[in-house]
Amino acid sequence: MEKKTFYITTPIYYPSDKLHIGHAYCTVATDVIARYKRLCGYDVMFLTGTDEHGQKIEEKAKAAGVTPQQFVDNIVTGPKGILDLWKLMNISNDRFIRTTDDYHVESVQKIFRKMYEKGDIYKGAYKGMYCTPCESFWTESQLVDGKCPDCGREVHYAEEEAYFFRLSKYAKPVQDLLETGTFLEPASRVNEMINNFIKPGLEDLCVSRTSFKWGIPVDFDEGHVVYVWVDALTNYITALGYLNDKYDDFEKYWPADVHVVGKEIVRFHSIIWPAILMSLGLPLPKKVYGHGWLVIDGGKMSKSKGNVVDPYVLSEKFGVDALRFFLMRTFPFGSDGNFSNELLINTINMDLANDLGNLVSRTTAMVEKYFGGVLPTEREPEQMDEELIAMITSTRKAYEGHMDAFHPHFALEEVFKLIQRANKYIDETAPWVLAKDEAKKARLATVMYNLLEALRVALTLLVPFIPESCEKAFAQIGAHPEDRTWDNAEHYGILPATVAVHKGETLFPRLDVEKAIAELEEMHRAASQPPAKPVLPDVTIDEFAKCDMRVCKVLTCEAVKKSEKLLKFSLDDGSGKPRQILSGIHKFYEPEQLVGKTVVAILNLPPRKMMGLESNGMLLSAVKEVNGKEELHLMILDDSVPAGAQLC
Ligand code: ME8
Repeated sequence: MEKKTFYITTPIYYPSDKLHIGHAYCTVATDVIARYKRLCGYDVMFLTGTDEHGQKIEEKAKAAGVTPQQFVDNIVTGPKGILDLWKLMNISNDRFIRTTDDYHVESVQKIFRKMYEKGDIYKGAYKGMYCTPCESFWTESQLVDGKCPDCGREVHYAEEEAYFFRLSKYAKPVQDLLETGTFLEPASRVNEMINNFIKPGLEDLCVSRTSFKWGIPVDFDEGHVVYVWVDALTNYITALGYLNDKYDDFEKYWPADVHVVGKEIVRFHSIIWPAILMSLGLPLPKKVYGHGWLVIDGGKMSKSKGNVVDPYVLSEKFGVDALRFFLMRTFPFGSDGNFSNELLINTINMDLANDLGNLVSRTTAMVEKYFGGVLPTEREPEQMDEELIAMITSTRKAYEGHMDAFHPHFALEEVFKLIQRANKYIDETAPWVLAKDEAKKARLATVMYNLLEALRVALTLLVPFIPESCEKAFAQIGAHPEDRTWDNAEHYGILPATVAVHKGETLFPRLDVEKAIAELEEMHRAASQPPAKPVLPDVTIDEFAKCDMRVCKVLTCEAVKKSEKLLKFSLDDGSGKPRQILSGIHKFYEPEQLVGKTVVAILNLPPRKMMGLESNGMLLSAVKEVNGKEELHLMILDDSVPAGAQLC
């Protein structure tokens, strides 16, 4: 029988030079659901990628002095870029799309033309407000205190010839879509969309720009580039091969089962995107899920506020699984969640170290201690086991309901009820007492077996959240791949009667809260320091020897007229003839401080003219930025070193 498919997407990310834990939140959640669906036996297509065009990128690239393509390449594929972050967070995406990929560009041009030929795109002139950071058009009435209603930043007036998409034509079918069924979740977002955007009247959408170049060209009208949101939204179909030859699984996976998106971009996904698909005559996605934000002290994380939390620092300190777990366990997915280091550390201590970690280590330690690591076959069940066994077989169902409703935190709640029940069962059965009585060996083996079974089910259900730790724990409790399938997660008695355990390393060590916070703060401080200047490429000793560096005595030194920086030196370089060198160090030294000093200069540089004066060489100094200020120290040697001595 063919597997059922499941197509799930994250938004495609703007290349950001400061990726934070909020960015990881959405992709980790999507990854958890994708892994869960694979566990259930679905043929999953999990897509993520990057949204690389638009005015914002063009402006940032210009400011950085690179081309837009170089700018995005660096952030997407460079060190600690987006691809690195997903690797770090153990994201299991099946495909990664970049909107600068040729096949996507080709498809978007065809899509634009198709809608134009249908009469859904027409030419007009745009007059209105534009928020460049959000790449969003706004009418005056939508602004809040004259600022962008999404990000609160300045908007600017834009007036240009443009193509428009007849969004107004689709207002009624989009409203029907939102009002019926479960297209948009959580349900609270539906009213927001209808009241704020559809009821006031959906205006046609400006879908091309002419005032900048970094976008996909409209292929039938030079000078126009496709509006970045049309370019971006269509990634969900171009990445499956819609109107291109790169992939051919559009028929297989479309329509998407769910687009997971942050709440601020629900508008684009639940209004504009369905309207575009209606215009193209394509089936609509089954669901858009709008999750909340990870905030700090109630406000959004942002580079400009300086409150971004670095996922590299957190995962270095606590491990990636602990971080993934925290994000999913702590905050209801549809609501905002207030991030704090204390909360993170407490979650690790309570759930992972105390509850889960303890259960694994106590159980495996006892099986090793009492049975040499391998359970005997004799059993002696008692009535008191029934409650735990009932939970072993029923947890999967409750978990499944919550996972299918995109409530991963409730699903985890169910798993932890089982784990906590198992820990309580240890206290109730007191294995250390049973172990003292030879006649109780079969009873003790039953208790141990029940604990291992509870762990097997709990860990199977935790795999989507903490895959690496589960792998280690499975090895410790002796669960083989065939024991940890989805089907087996609702049955008791799956582990072999003579299961063999191997007590291993502690999965989640308990943390000292104060110490961990202090260490984290230090790590964040270090990580936010500007990167050290890159080490230069190697030179050979012969290349180095070509530099004629010599000790010189300062004969005279004076400031160069009309220059704030330059000092003019006359130097004794040992040749018997004074040498003139100009140096831009007046900010750091007064001329009289330097007369008579023994300094070092490189002599065989080509002569250079500065302020009409010739400079024959360069003085060597040491430079460093300290607390954002440049410090310079001229190399001054002991006076006993003679003029003309060569550095080697
Ligand atoms: O919006 N908490 O890209 P993006 C939770 N390119 N989620 C957060 C967050 C936070 N603090 N900060 C960001 C875009 N996100 C468009 C999408 S899709 C066709 C185009 C989430 O890089 C944000 O809500 O600004 C969004 O879902 C995702 O990160 C990418 O945001």
